[in-house]
Amino acid sequence: MASVPFWEESYKDDKISAFGTNPNPEVKEFIELFQKSWNVLEAGCGEAKNSIYLASNGFERVNAFDISENAIAKVKKIAAKNEVELNSFTQDLCTFPWKENYDLVISYGTLHFVAKEGWHHFIQEAKEHTNVGGIHIIQIFTNKVPASPDIEEFAVGLADEGELQGFYQGWKILSLKAFVLEDEHPGAPKHYHAINKIVAQKL
Ligand SMILES: C[S@@+](CC[C@H](N)C(=O)[O-])C[C@H]1O[C@@H](n2cnc3c(N)ncnc32)[C@H](O)[C@@H]1O
Repeated sequence: MASVPFWEESYKDDKISAFGTNPNPEVKEFIELFQKSWNVLEAGCGEAKNSIYLASNGFERVNAFDISENAIAKVKKIAAKNEVELNSFTQDLCTFPWKENYDLVISYGTLHFVAKEGWHHFIQEAKEHTNVGGIHIIQIFTNKVPASPDIEEFAVGLADEGELQGFYQGWKILSLKAFVLEDEHPGAPKHYHAINKIVAQKL
């Protein structure tokens, strides 16, 4: 039987949240730059804490997807409970159908779970399908430290340090961070993730 990543159990349980319910810091930090009419796309949304936050703050065109059916079922329940509207759907980021342009593309802790070719393609397409002035907020794990035991089987596309940044030449870099995070959660003793994170605006 194929292994299942630890977050699937929490997606099936309404009482717990694997990654917390607060939006990621950059989404709050840069919200003043976003317009409520913007077309938003969150890739690998999990429980969609960022998309729920934006929808709750009056953003009208919020789209969130994840490959996990359990995640999307939970997102729909959370949205209903919070009385917010967003378009959530099951989708593999590698085969995302780019039919329209976006103004804000968000992805936290997800891209390294597909082969490099897959996330490279996703970022290239996302860049092309972003309106001028639009913003990307992307966080990826790198190979600066080995993948921790809880994710090593799934982390097939760890970035090299600086690789993500390389995609954003010609964009205005609003924030760039590289650090090693100490992490601990049920089922996984203390472990480390090397993180590269970028907030960039299309010129
Ligand atoms: C570590 S979780 C992060 C979830 C969320 N972004 C957060 O920060 O709370 C990684 C997520 O990526 C999703 N994922 C993995 N591979 C994916 C793919 N090929 N396409 C879309 N989502 C994927 C998983 O289902 C999982 O929900």
